[in-house]
Amino acid sequence: KRPAGSPDPRIARPIMKVGVIGAGLMASQFALLFVRRLRVPVVITDLDQARVDKGLAYITSEIDKLSERGRISSDETNRLKALISGTTEKSDFADCDWVIEAVFEELSIKQDVFAEIEQYISPEAILATNTSSLSVEQIGATLKHPERLVGFHFFNPVAVMPLIEVVRTPRTNDESLSTAMSTAKKLGKTAVITRDTPGFVVNRILAKLLGEAMHALDNGTSFEVVNHALDPLGLPMTPFELLELVGLTVGAHVLDTHHAAFPDRFYRSDNLHKLAEHGRLLDRDGAGKVKGIDRGAQKII
Ligand code: 3HC
Repeated sequence: KRPAGSPDPRIARPIMKVGVIGAGLMASQFALLFVRRLRVPVVITDLDQARVDKGLAYITSEIDKLSERGRISSDETNRLKALISGTTEKSDFADCDWVIEAVFEELSIKQDVFAEIEQYISPEAILATNTSSLSVEQIGATLKHPERLVGFHFFNPVAVMPLIEVVRTPRTNDESLSTAMSTAKKLGKTAVITRDTPGFVVNRILAKLLGEAMHALDNGTSFEVVNHALDPLGLPMTPFELLELVGLTVGAHVLDTHHAAFPDRFYRSDNLHKLAEHGRLLDRDGAGKVKGIDRGAQKII
């Protein structure tokens, strides 16, 4: 059955080469997924060679782990490694039919990288953004061909989380949307089409949860109480574990974006920005026990 709002799958474009802009945590994870599931060449780029090399090293080590666990044969291991490459030259994206970015969550940066890449790629190539809370339409506002841009929002850890939010802007054409839906399917994921609203669907709900956890912490409820109060619900992670998985800087940014869009409904936490500078929210001892850094009052407000 075709997901709600999904256009005819027969108009999806074939993808023979993938370009990934950004070689950080999310980009490296989905570059690996593209190479593994689509079995086409995947090229990654970032600001400098050191960042590209770090991304490539992560991908190679994850391929080795799959091999060690017997998930892929040694032939497959070599094939996947041969399909992945890194570059600092955007001209190496010229023959990509699908280019996806996961660079820093700032509108002008995302607009600039797409403007640069658009100089090299074919007008037929599709552009996708992994933005978690910016407006996809605004990201595409400076493109020559904004109709080719879709949101394609992965969740962390990419290998495990089954969902992709596919974001259609008022300008996205059916070919791009159909290609996004068929690509998500080939990646083994479930895709939902969402409107281009801040946080789409999942982060809108998650920002509420994480924002309220930070609000309780900032207002004196103890770290342990906030972190573990929801344990009986059986969620896979506590709120602060989830914030750390997402990354404190990203998490703080997501809360800020929601607060800016809906100031009366979403909380922004200065404390989370400070914690992001500190680097960690949770300290773990050898046994993996969580040691909160803020041990305030022991009551739920
Ligand atoms: N990379 C690859 N695989 C991973 C992984 C990672 N980082 N972390 C876990 N896995 C795999 C394991 O290898 C294992 O696979 P297997 O069953 O095939 O061997 C499987 O996931 C389960 O792992 P574990 O048994 O070690 O651990 P758990 O059962 O505790 O599950 C979890 C780990 C899947 C991360 C689980 O805790 C979970 O679902 N947490 C919630 C994550 C979540 O909500 N993510 C969304 C964040 S929001 C976001 O990303 C949006 C952004 O825009 C902010």
